[in-house]
Amino acid sequence: MPFTLKDVAVEELPEIIAAERYAFETPLQPIFRLYCPVLDDDRAKAIADSAAKEQDRVKNPDPNIERTWIKAVASEGSEGSEASAQFAFVGAAEWIFVTEESSSVEAAVESLAKRHPEGGARLFASQCFQVLRETEDRNRTLTSGTRPYASLGSFFTLPEYRQRGIGHLLMQWGLQKADEKGIDTWIEAAPPAVPFYQRHGFIQKEVTQLQPQRPDGLSEKVAAEWDAAVESILPITAVTMCRLARTH
Ligand SMILES: CC(C)(COP(=O)(O)OP(=O)(O)OC[C@H]1O[C@@H](n2cnc3c(N)ncnc32)[C@H](O)[C@@H]1OP(=O)(O)O)[C@@H](O)C(=O)NCCC(=O)NCCS
Repeated sequence: MPFTLKDVAVEELPEIIAAERYAFETPLQPIFRLYCPVLDDDRAKAIADSAAKEQDRVKNPDPNIERTWIKAVASEGSEGSEASAQFAFVGAAEWIFVTEESSSVEAAVESLAKRHPEGGARLFASQCFQVLRETEDRNRTLTSGTRPYASLGSFFTLPEYRQRGIGHLLMQWGLQKADEKGIDTWIEAAPPAVPFYQRHGFIQKEVTQLQPQRPDGLSEKVAAEWDAAVESILPITAVTMCRLARTH
């Protein structure tokens, strides 16, 4: 295998976040605009802000959530070891192992929605995150109860390196850990990645087409902000998927 996995150091996160944006924009996965909006057309600031938040999260970990970033690099001397012109790695993933849910749905939704500007855009984002979070929680509780679970915070291969088994390597790393811990893995998949996940043992639990209804009684300004957010972010389809732990 010409690619190997390595841990990501906290100081590498800005480069990882920049690569993540490039990967999710090539081609654009619409859900990425919801999770990682670019405000005032300032792409560099959006990357710097996300990287700072991610570094903060890694330096001040939640005791109930283990987060691990891993990166795939081309093995020395192998084909492609010149790596991409832009980045020193070819793909990365953030694996998340949750022992206990430590924030309420409301707190989690509010924190994500704050990535969008106050007003109609934030209101819109908050309703989207509420639906996504409730859908995953409902499905997970039905299947896995309140037991610990694994998830993916991010997962990408640089466009130039796709279809060479890098996604498989990044996926296997976390699934092996999940099996060792005896826990199920839950993800919110983008439709194009569904066949990939199915080949890794995930089954589709629910398909959500985000269609939040604009509340009545908004001011003209807030209603216009809501409409602009709808225009720039939707349509989004999210697929809730689960892979049950394989115990040996
Ligand atoms: C989803 C994603 C991470 C897959 O990464 P990848 O490195 O291309 O994954 P792999 O190479 O392991 O597998 C991809 C396909 O290539 C095939 N493949 C694997 N190794 C191969 C090889 N050596 N030669 C040819 N094809 C190969 C696999 O069969 C697989 O097919 P499938 O998608 O029908 O299952 C990548 O497409 C990506 O970054 N997409 C944008 C971001 C994204 O959508 N992330 C997931 C959000 S839910």
